Amino acid sequence: MQKIDLSRSLPHARIAELPNPYFGKVRDCYDLPDGTRLLISSDRISAFDQILAVIPWKGQVLTQLARYWFDATTDIAPNHVIGYPDPNVVHARRVTILPVEIVVRGYLAGTTSTSILTRYKAGARTMYGHSLPEGLRDNQALPQAIITPTSKAFDGGHDEPLTAEDIVASGLMTKTQWDEVSAKAMALFARGQKMSEKQGLILVDTKYEFGTDADGNVLLADEIHTPDSSRYWIAEGYENAFGNGIRPPSFDKDVIRSWVVARCDPYRDQIPAIPLEMIEKTAMVYIGAYERITGQPFRPDAGGASPLDRVRSRLTPFFTA
Ligand SMILES: Nc1ncnc2c1ncn2[C@@H]1O[C@H](COP(=O)(O)OP(=O)(O)OP(=O)(O)O)[C@@H](O)[C@H]1O
Ligand SMILES: [Mg+2]
Repeated sequence: MQKIDLSRSLPHARIAELPNPYFGKVRDCYDLPDGTRLLISSDRISAFDQILAVIPWKGQVLTQLARYWFDATTDIAPNHVIGYPDPNVVHARRVTILPVEIVVRGYLAGTTSTSILTRYKAGARTMYGHSLPEGLRDNQALPQAIITPTSKAFDGGHDEPLTAEDIVASGLMTKTQWDEVSAKAMALFARGQKMSEKQGLILVDTKYEFGTDADGNVLLADEIHTPDSSRYWIAEGYENAFGNGIRPPSFDKDVIRSWVVARCDPYRDQIPAIPLEMIEKTAMVYIGAYERITGQPFRPDAGGASPLDRVRSRLTPFFTA
């Protein structure tokens, strides 16, 4: 791997000349007057409902990974992308995001309260409208991939598990929308698993966001198969780990999370400053993930005096003020 300059990062992309900002956890977005949206991936890393650190090159890695997967799946699902004015930026068709996160899972895995492994271990065999067989072990492949939708909490509330019936009955989506979205999500996931397998990776689970445009067409929006929206395992090492009942090897982007959890209760205590060493390690993990997933070298864009300066200058054609 080439030498990477870890002194450059994009903590935020607040640009006063762009209109209608929405500053998300990771991306800073602007809705343009022509009905399109700029989504700028910053280098922020979020966990425990807060920003933990700024990881050099993370934003470029995420944008370029999403690009790789958007390009590889246009035959399955039309997506929101219009173009990439900068390696950290997606210029997208603005859609109304459907209020359901489409999580697809191929394995009995996860650690959060909504994960199927947590629920299965607590004794549940029916979840999200699916019945799982008895006798599954930690991190085992499911008989087939399943969709475990959750309500998208737009106000920072917590995600609630849903079934297909709930979604349609409560009017979150029409039956037609659900049928289209669920079929596309399953096909996208199958493609993701197949392509990942060729790279020696297992796409374990992922989350999609779909939206509708002004004509009611359903488009794949947000990001796709990035390490922030997905779990990957390294295929080599899976069988052994599974056999021994331990967590299969993955891109260890959670070093920071683990470091934090070992030191405090992140939901109650003040989180200590993350050491530089940890940040640099995580940057290399993201870059390594890009190279492993795509099979291509990562090409850092070192243009401009700083990443913000570069992004600003590439986005001047969109300025309204
Ligand atoms: N094409 C699109 N049109 C409109 N909104 C979009 C589109 N693609 C993605 N979004 C939204 O843009 C935002 C991206 O920013 P980011 O993911 O950092 O936000 P967030 O803080 O995670 O918010 P959320 O919890 O809503 O995802 C998300 O709210 C996402 O739903
Ligand atoms: Mg998001």
